[in-house]
Amino acid sequence: MPPQWRADLQEVLIPAPQLRRRVAEMARALTRDYAGGDLLVVPLLTGTILFLADLLRCLALPLRLDFLGVSSYRDGTRPRELILTKELRLDARDRHVLLVDDILDTGRTLAWVLARLQRLQPRSLRTCVLLDKPARRLEPVQADYVGFTIPDVFVVGYGLDFAERYRNLPFVGVLRPELYAAAG
Ligand code: IMP
Ligand code: MG
Repeated sequence: MPPQWRADLQEVLIPAPQLRRRVAEMARALTRDYAGGDLLVVPLLTGTILFLADLLRCLALPLRLDFLGVSSYRDGTRPRELILTKELRLDARDRHVLLVDDILDTGRTLAWVLARLQRLQPRSLRTCVLLDKPARRLEPVQADYVGFTIPDVFVVGYGLDFAERYRNLPFVGVLRPELYAAAG
């Protein structure tokens, strides 16, 4: 592990070369599955940025790109509520839509976004996530394309954050539990 991260991270879970190989593999599967179709790629802000940039470079397909912003609010008593912070600009109706997220955890985010997108009557709607943490699932949602299935640990890097930090790490690392325990 790079020494500057040793105080914050417990271990490197997925090193950069492994991310590169797997993302290229996912892109090959997508290129095969969507051959001929005009794809609308809908990534969720902000955790998808590095994954998305690497994936897009390897997608040999005609496609368009439009971000959705989703944020959650907790007030301590009620379960968190999701709100849209950035709407789609492009028309999804009758399009092949691929929803992209960084990590599928409880499934609440994807379930909520999928229900919204479905109302726009896309021709098809599939999901692609870099990471899947099935141990924490609360909603019956599965992704169609999964990069890595990981255990129930809090990960950061390669786009994923803790309190908006660590997104720039070129690898996926496990945050030391004492760091997020301290934050509550
Ligand atoms: P879900 O709604 O519980 O499936 O959570 C999805 C969102 O929670 C992701 O888009 C991430 O922003 C965040 N998240 C869940 N697990 C982690 C993690 O281990 N590290 C960083 N963010 C996470
Ligand atoms: Mg996120």
